[in-house]
Amino acid sequence: MNVLEIQNLTKKFGDFIAVDNMSLSVAEGEIFGFLGTNGAGKSTTINMIAGLLRSNDGTIEILGKNSRFAKMNLGMVPQDLAIYEDMTAFENVKFFAGLYGLRGNLLKERVEEALEFVGLEDKHKSYPKSFSGGMKRRLNIACSIAHRPKLIIMDEPTVGIDPQSRNYILNSVRKLNEMGCTIIYTSHYMEEVEEICTRVAIIDHGKIIAEGTKDQLKSIITNTKDIWIEVRSAEQLNLESVKEIHGVEAVQLEDNVLKINSDTGVNNLNKIIEHLINHQIEIRSCEEKAPNLETVFLTLTGRNLRDH
Ligand SMILES: Nc1ncnc2c1ncn2[C@@H]1O[C@H](COP(=O)(O)OP(=O)(O)O)[C@@H](O)[C@H]1O
Ligand SMILES: [Mg+2]
Repeated sequence: MNVLEIQNLTKKFGDFIAVDNMSLSVAEGEIFGFLGTNGAGKSTTINMIAGLLRSNDGTIEILGKNSRFAKMNLGMVPQDLAIYEDMTAFENVKFFAGLYGLRGNLLKERVEEALEFVGLEDKHKSYPKSFSGGMKRRLNIACSIAHRPKLIIMDEPTVGIDPQSRNYILNSVRKLNEMGCTIIYTSHYMEEVEEICTRVAIIDHGKIIAEGTKDQLKSIITNTKDIWIEVRSAEQLNLESVKEIHGVEAVQLEDNVLKINSDTGVNNLNKIIEHLINHQIEIRSCEEKAPNLETVFLTLTGRNLRDH
């Protein structure tokens, strides 16, 4: 069964098209990744799914129903923290769970369950202002899961937090999924999406430019490989001259590592190394990289996910 079905969804801000005729379906049990740079249109799409923003065109169905009914089955973890600083952690979760109609003992049990789930069980009486960024994020998650939604949408839940909280959040996504929740996970961090998502949509300029399992997406680009050459300094090197070598598709320099995307059908490693030596470039190491979603993004858009 499809938990989410979007058809021809469009959102304009004035003349600007933020979401452009997007269609998408997410099946029960998936951890579905929305991957794209800042400004790609991820939050706009998600806010329309959650009913926080009106679309200009298109339809959204959650569990086969229009989104108003479906809100009870939806948990939304917004990109900007939605917690009250002057209420305790317990009161925050209780407030949000109460909005979904939970009352009395059941409400109390579910609030405790949600706080325990995010590892804040000993912070019931603490105020968010004493929390680290990661703890606030975890509280934000507790607020959106206490009513046990079937579909949970997380909008960049790991931006600007410490690695420990990040791992905690990624593990909790997996655990929620094992418990039967379908998850939509939005991020501009390729590694995270690659690590936890079962299927991914790559979003760019309001459009899905590629969609599928990680392997399906990588198969788009199996005709290229990445060669990383670490050099002492590449000041004397004109990157454009490397691009002229037969088979080379793209070249980037990042912290003294030349990242070369090259046609798998052409054995040009000798030529590349010869070229570097001819330009008095000192080579420190050389390795071939398996393709990842970053490479997919670069191949499809000509841009780097990280540059944004
Ligand atoms: N309320 C708004 N008014 C005008 N433009 C907006 C508004 N919200 C988002 N945008 C624009 O829409 C585009 C997509 O934004 P957003 O969905 O937040 O991207 P993402 O979440 O992928 O970073 C951006 O160019 C952004 O500036
Ligand atoms: Mg966003």
